[in-house]
Amino acid sequence: MNRKALQKLSYGVYLITTASDETLYGCVANSAMQITSAPAQVAVSLNHDNQTCEAVEKIGMFLISVLSTQADPALIGGFGYRSGRDCDKFSAVPYTMREGMPVPDAALGWIACRVVKQMDAGTHTIFLGEVLDCDLLQPDAIPMTYAYYHTVIKGASPKNAPTYLPPES
Ligand SMILES: Cc1cc2nc3c(=O)[nH]c(=O)nc-3n(C[C@H](O)[C@H](O)[C@H](O)COP(=O)(O)O)c2cc1C
Repeated sequence: MNRKALQKLSYGVYLITTASDETLYGCVANSAMQITSAPAQVAVSLNHDNQTCEAVEKIGMFLISVLSTQADPALIGGFGYRSGRDCDKFSAVPYTMREGMPVPDAALGWIACRVVKQMDAGTHTIFLGEVLDCDLLQPDAIPMTYAYYHTVIKGASPKNAPTYLPPES
């Protein structure tokens, strides 16, 4: 099996957030995509070890923030390489609440969803969300692709990303 073929799939770079009454949760994900148009439904795949996965399962809501090529790489580092179990990811990140969930001011746009189905995929859970509301904050900005993240920002895929490859692969 030539796993390099898997690396030719295209993605974007997103923040997945949710919130309970007391706490904000969020992590980086490449694995977000639109599934249907009417009704508008999107899906995201979250690793069971991620605090955000546990929170989305419990709360039943998630919000996708689309990042642009202008997004600060430190935002990706802060949300993609640390767990909310160990730090407050939002302390230095300005945001507004939409449908009860945080949208970083740096987002190009956002999509707020209610979980309508979920599927256990072994290491990850795939959440299917019905879109409750969505909007653009920077209509002319260019969305960041996963290829841009790898080739221009020189970012890696950490262990909990679905696209992770162990070093020997
Ligand atoms: C570029 C990038 C893409 C990622 N994609 C995913 C993903 O699709 N699903 C996932 O569960 N984790 C993904 N991750 C890893 C999580 O963001 C990371 O494990 C995070 O620290 C989890 O934080 P939490 O414990 O606060 O939820 C990705 C990380 C990066 C940097």
